[in-house]
Amino acid sequence: MHAYSVLPDDINPLCVPKHVAVIMDGNGRWANQRCLPRVAGHRQGARVLKDLLRCCKDWGIEALTAYAFSTENWKRPTTEVDFLMVLFEKMLKKELMAMHQEGVRVRFIGDLSALPPILQKEMNLAVEETANNTAIDFNVAVNYGSRSEITMACQQIAQKVEQGAVTACEVTEDMIAEHLYTQGSDPDLLIRTSGEQRLSNFLLWQLAYTEMVFTDAFWPDFDRAQFHRALLIYQRRDRRFGNASDAVLLQKAKEKAALTA
Ligand code: IPE
Ligand code: IPE
Ligand code: MG
Repeated sequence: MHAYSVLPDDINPLCVPKHVAVIMDGNGRWANQRCLPRVAGHRQGARVLKDLLRCCKDWGIEALTAYAFSTENWKRPTTEVDFLMVLFEKMLKKELMAMHQEGVRVRFIGDLSALPPILQKEMNLAVEETANNTAIDFNVAVNYGSRSEITMACQQIAQKVEQGAVTACEVTEDMIAEHLYTQGSDPDLLIRTSGEQRLSNFLLWQLAYTEMVFTDAFWPDFDRAQFHRALLIYQRRDRRFGNASDAVLLQKAKEKAALTA
């Protein structure tokens, strides 16, 4: 059982990010520091993700998207890749019931066809079982690569053009977004742990206007206090989306008021 936790007092409930994405990095280094095998870091990392999902739900966040395995992670030693695949499968089996009961809607983004069939089966089951849940969306990126996702979207749209369903000029940003795995939902906040400040092929299109918070903590140490800190940083940011800052807008409004007075 997990203890329900309320939104900390210093977080404004009106400005909580709707969609949080995490690049869960540093599992290997966390384990190394403790003279443990890298896979011990992955195991602890999975526990941390489980707790973050509950925390997000309790704090009113609508969607959590987690980078679990990239298209580039196949380069790792087979033993580590195999361990991760089995870990994903075990976690899904173990956690599905609880997630379902808590109203989590699970989805996967990435090319699942390259994953072990038994894992694909567990994934499909989780997606089907939780499809109508509404408490929180939990998207897990497995064998995910943003460039391959965008390429796939281009191919699908090109096909529609070839078939004459749309003309080249009719291709819009919205149409491209809808052809991505995320189907138009962009994160408000991206957190990457372990001190690395790069995207590693994660959600390149979707992060166009996302606020990014980088923390030195390794993922297995990323607890609620760390998440709370990231939310505070997020709430201090001024999201302008290309517009002038609030200060400038306020000044303009004052000038206008003075002119019409
Ligand atoms: C992130 O931790 C987990 C995955 C990429 C699967 P890492 O395994 O990359 O840990 P470091 O970066 O080597 O410490
Ligand atoms: C990014 O981490 C992928 C995941 C967290 C799943 P990596 O550890 O693979 O990224 P790089 O290689 O340091 O860029
Ligand atoms: Mg890493």
